[in-house]
Amino acid sequence: MFTLIDLPYPIDALEPVISARTLTFHHGKHLQGYVDNLNKLIAGTEFGTMPLEEIVQKATGGMFNNAGQILNHNLYFTQFRPAAVIPSPEGVKESPLQAQIVRQWGSLAAFQAAFVTAGATLFGSGWVWLQADADGALTIGQYPGADNPAAHGLKPLLTFDVWEHAYYLDYQNRRPAHLEALWGIVDWSVVEERYGR
Ligand SMILES: [Fe+2]
Repeated sequence: MFTLIDLPYPIDALEPVISARTLTFHHGKHLQGYVDNLNKLIAGTEFGTMPLEEIVQKATGGMFNNAGQILNHNLYFTQFRPAAVIPSPEGVKESPLQAQIVRQWGSLAAFQAAFVTAGATLFGSGWVWLQADADGALTIGQYPGADNPAAHGLKPLLTFDVWEHAYYLDYQNRRPAHLEALWGIVDWSVVEERYGR
């Protein structure tokens, strides 16, 4: 049985980038719904005792969709921290991840621009990911629906949710503006830790 993760910050901590109202629905209703759905689907099946990532790699249909959405949201919600305490991109200390980003994109700013473009141009609902292969090489992935890097043998590092439920209450149709604003609350220490895992 899976349970809803706790947010590692107060419900209003990410304002104004993500409002308490959006988080209340996104975490408390949407993610809770995926958790409830998956628990019903796996009950009494071979998937009932599997770790989430294994279900994502083996399941299809509704089971894949609900498991994928839990994995995606768990990584999404735990990669943010309140804007007041996030270091600026310039202040992020030298790190293997930052060095690899600069090697591949030239600068953190150039990577961020490419990432936002990938999210803005993803048609319909889905996720944009920074992902790593077994050698540590990075790519930006556009995934529709509940799909994600873990389902394709890649390491999920950082993700922006481009489902409308992630931003519509605060930004309406302005998806690119929402994605740009998210840089102000990304906790790079979390992303770095995922890269080193
Ligand atoms: Fe979402």
